[in-house]
Formats: sequence, structure tokens, C-alpha cells
Amino acid sequence: MNATRRDVMKLIGAGALGSAMLPRVAAAQGAGAAVPAAAAGASNAERDLTIVNFDMLEEEARGLLTPGRFAFMGPAGDGWTYRENRRAFGDYPIMPRRLQGISDAAIDVRTQLLGQGLPFPMITAPMGAHGMIHAGGEVVTSRGTGAAGTLYVSSGASNATMEDIAKATSGPKWFQIYMNRDMEINRWLVQRARAAGYTAIVLTADALGPGQSDEFIRLGRPFPPNLRPGNHDPARGGRGNFFELKRDLSFGDIGFLREASGLPVVVKGVVHPQDIRQCHAAGASAIWVSNHGGRQMDGVPGAISTLRDAVDAVAGRVPVVFDSGIRRGIDVFKALALGANAVALGRPVLWGLAAGGAGGVKNVYAHLTGELRTALLLSGVAKVTDLRREHLARI
Ligand code: FNR
Repeated sequence: MNATRRDVMKLIGAGALGSAMLPRVAAAQGAGAAVPAAAAGASNAERDLTIVNFDMLEEEARGLLTPGRFAFMGPAGDGWTYRENRRAFGDYPIMPRRLQGISDAAIDVRTQLLGQGLPFPMITAPMGAHGMIHAGGEVVTSRGTGAAGTLYVSSGASNATMEDIAKATSGPKWFQIYMNRDMEINRWLVQRARAAGYTAIVLTADALGPGQSDEFIRLGRPFPPNLRPGNHDPARGGRGNFFELKRDLSFGDIGFLREASGLPVVVKGVVHPQDIRQCHAAGASAIWVSNHGGRQMDGVPGAISTLRDAVDAVAGRVPVVFDSGIRRGIDVFKALALGANAVALGRPVLWGLAAGGAGGVKNVYAHLTGELRTALLLSGVAKVTDLRREHLARI
């Protein structure tokens, strides 16, 4: 796929994913250097981490990556939504129960998602261009997620091909699509995903417009030109132009993806109750409440503030996945108490990837699972599947 000048201009308008995929505009690093551009400034770490908290892990990742690669993960606009994603968890204090006769041995964090057993209610969110973070890219992230035993959602904007990612993970996997204007490319992508062993298609609905980190722009959008969307790379059997994004997504696309793939379709990035009801009517098999980690449109509410109404709109008919701002075990507790079935981790996975490769990703899950188990124990709740709104002081 050739990213022509026209592609580049479209891409600038394509927001978070577009900014990630831009060929380098300012020479930030790498040209002519001995280190391959994919690796220059990216991590090649592979080790176990001792994680105290994700704020400290973020700082570790910041120290390991060049500023441009770190800014790739930054928020859109003023970062108001990004900050609100964290702050708004404070609107839902936990109401613990005491003297419930529950010991460590009784704590059970296992759950189910679309018929898939998970060891804990956390999965890896789709994120593009892991080659920006680690020289091994998505193959390393998916290996780490599989080693943790949980589900990997492969981004349509991955640098590795979906087949290589599928082979690298021992866990379950879903494929996330950024729909193309060419519907035959969409059909080909989801059929390819099914053949590679992905068991659901995630339609991302909230990444259409401008929205990129000011810092990434200030640094000249330092995206190494050789980090391409892997699924479309002709040298690796790919076709179609990733950057020809379908902007006019509609509820009808849910049915198209279902029919084309024969797989359940999960709609990611919907928050308005009416949209959620329509997604369900159009055949969505799960709803993924998210604001893209504040990386698309600034000014929308913190994601956790939208979860309760979204869950009410779903009315128990299909599972609900939640992401944006999960950093603590108590955040997972709150999201599940509000009615989510599982949460997805975004940046913490990339920070773990930067600091420790596949081992670091696995450690991210072990750390958060430990915090979640503690939160359950100290709240007198034995099973994550028992979490209800009554476990919150206010909703
Ligand atoms: C993303 N996200 C994202 N979402 C998606 O559906 N497809 C994608 O390709 C990407 N790419 C992407 C890149 C980077 C660097 C980030 C940080 C995020 C959004 C992602 O799936 C998820 O919604 C958020 O990351 C969750 O928020 P937190 O956990 O990062 O706060």
C-alpha cells in the first residue's frame, strides 16, 4: 500500500489512528541510522517487572521511549476527557460489606465473555502500531496477553499481520476492524480474521474525526515510514488502502460484518443509550463502552460516567465491555459493579510492553488481578460475577 500525499492529508484528518500511521514529517530519528527505524527509540525489553502502580510504570515507559513514541499514546485536545476518565471513578465510592466470612480462598475472579472463559475480567484493548513501543510489536504484546491467559483484541491498525499475531498468542482473540470504504476489503479482512482463528469482530465506531495528541504534532508526528498497517502490506499478502476509511458508518454495517464473517460483532465506542439500543436491534452481540481512552474526541464525558446508562440500555441482553481509564483494581471493581462484564486495558499494556516486553504485559495483568482480589476481599464480595450496584455507595 502506498501512502501518497493524498493519503497523508486524509490521514491527518483521521484522528488518533491516522496520526499514528503518518509517515514521518519531521526527521525525529532513525534516518540512515544503523538501528532499523522500527527499533530506533522503541524498546526491546524482555523481563519481569515489579509493578507498584501503573503511574510508576508509565514513568518507566516514558524514560525508555523517545518523546515522540511516548507522545503517540497521548490524549486528544486539552486532555480534559483523558483526565476525566480517571477523575470520574471518584464519583462511585465503594460501599464495603464486613464480617462476610470470606477468605482469600473464596475469591474467584473468573468470568465468561461471549462464551469464552477468562481467568479474570480483563482483556487487552485493540491498539494500533505497537512497533512504536516495542521492536517486536504486536507479536510480543499478544504473546504476553496469551501468557496471562486472557483475550487479545488485535487492532486493524497493527503493524504485524493478524496471522502473525494470532500465532503468537495462546489465548482467545478478537479482530477489531476500522472499516474501509471498499466493502470488499472489509469482507476480505473479516473472512481472513475468521480463518486465522479470531472468534469475534470488533467494530470501532468512535475513531472518525480529528483527534491527536498535541505533543505528537509538536514533535512532527515522528512515525517511522516503515511501520505500516501490516494487514494491508502487499509484501505480506495484504491489499487495500488502510487509509481509505469509511466515515459514514451506520447500524447497517453491523449486519454486514456479521454476514461477511459469520462471527459475533462487538460494537466499540458507543455510549449514547439510543445508539446502544439500535446496535442491539441491528444484531450486535456485545457493546463496548469506551471513549477511546480520551484519544479521539476531547470534551466527551469520562467513560465511567456513561457506563450506568449504557448498561441500563443493554438491559442484560448482551455482555458489556468497558474501557478508558482503568488503572486500579478498584476501577475494575467499580466498572463491574455498575454492570460491565469485563474491562479492557489500553495504555497500561503498552507501558508494560515498553518496560518488560511479553513478560511486562503478563505482569500488568498479575498486578491488576492482585489489586482486584484485594478489593473483593476487603469488600466482602467472593466472586466478580456477584458484583452489583449495591457494592457502590453512590451510583
Ligand atoms: C488506542 N485505541 C484504539 N482503539 C481501537 O479500537 N483501535 C485502535 O487501533 C486503537 N489504537 C490505539 C492506540 C493507542 C496508542 C491507544 C492508547 C489507544 C483505544 C483503545 O482500544 C482503548 O479504548 C483505550 O486505550 C482505553 O483507554 P486507556 O486504558 O488507555 O485509558
